[in-house]
Amino acid sequence: MKSFIKKDNFFSGLRLRQILNDLKRRPEDAAKELKMSISQFNKLLNGEDPLTEKLVRQITSIWPIKLVDIINPFYDSEPSYKVMKASSSAKTSRIMKRGGVDYYEYQDTVMSKNAPFRPEWIRELVYVSDNDPNNKNVHWNKGHLLHQFTYFVGEVNFYYLDNNNNKKVAIMNTGDSMFIGFYVPHTFATRNKKLDSYIIAITYYDTISYDIQNELLDYGLKRSIKFIEKSKKSSTGKVKIAKYDNCKFKYKRYKNKSIYKYKCLATTPLVNTSDSIELEVIYNNGFSRYSSSHQYLYVLSKDGCLNIEGKTHKVKYGDTLYIKPFVAHKFNKTGLKVLIMSVQGKIRKDTIEQLRHMGEKNIKKIIFDDTSWFKK
Ligand SMILES: [Fe+2]
Repeated sequence: MKSFIKKDNFFSGLRLRQILNDLKRRPEDAAKELKMSISQFNKLLNGEDPLTEKLVRQITSIWPIKLVDIINPFYDSEPSYKVMKASSSAKTSRIMKRGGVDYYEYQDTVMSKNAPFRPEWIRELVYVSDNDPNNKNVHWNKGHLLHQFTYFVGEVNFYYLDNNNNKKVAIMNTGDSMFIGFYVPHTFATRNKKLDSYIIAITYYDTISYDIQNELLDYGLKRSIKFIEKSKKSSTGKVKIAKYDNCKFKYKRYKNKSIYKYKCLATTPLVNTSDSIELEVIYNNGFSRYSSSHQYLYVLSKDGCLNIEGKTHKVKYGDTLYIKPFVAHKFNKTGLKVLIMSVQGKIRKDTIEQLRHMGEKNIKKIIFDDTSWFKK
């Protein structure tokens, strides 16, 4: 499978065997259709030869398969975790203007190609002396497709349109959090004269991702609307606010000791595939954590220590980490305080149920199937 795993190739024959199986073609049938010799075709099939753009054009024009199915998954491969230092984030600083004035300072925090997060550190550059939702100095956006979980540090006003399209303001302080669903117009301003406040704005993809957008595009607007014509309107609402002081600490027990204290932050039934907590390690421990979700971590303590896949990392305030599902990690040293946002990947309830029925042997096969569907 040499050429399959070459990271720099755009295309890969990794799924070619399965494509043949699905289309009920033997290699000799496929070779004939592609006007090549069977030995040439077998080289594509076993990865000796790469799938060139010319071949891809040929394959997608004669067989009903999507281009995306032959894109090399290794091209986008990422490590099991990533760390971004606060100093690296600072280098991405850029000032955004709204209404002609400096409005936000943005800094990137850790991101991974295969994770749903697009998290930003944002400092508010406009000071407000009141809590009027119609304050003339605030500039609203139109809302965006990605959901947004926000953790507040310092004195920040959060402005949003409620379910009835009324302008609202939430007066937020350190530890408070909010969730807004897609396309809720919103904005932020600081109540701190020194502009010494910021937010961790974790926007993320959930069910409505690029592939869903492309599927709706394929159906067209009229047909796409039909999906929702008969569905009932939910009364959930798209905005949730959690005040830090109203949330109670919970404790994680391990070997008869409380090792973490944590608070659950803003969440909503509209998106039940994500959750967020603020966690502090209160007892040195050997507890190994893992999650079936993608995890984003923002370090809130001055410094701290954590262990991922057996490797110890010293972290500082403002460092950010991304951890893939099922990657073992330990918050083993007292004092570490982190914000953790977890978002499920695309492997959810229905998929898990089918994988369970399939069993381990077949999961191995679907990751890489290099056998024909029948024995000669
Ligand atoms: Fe936003």
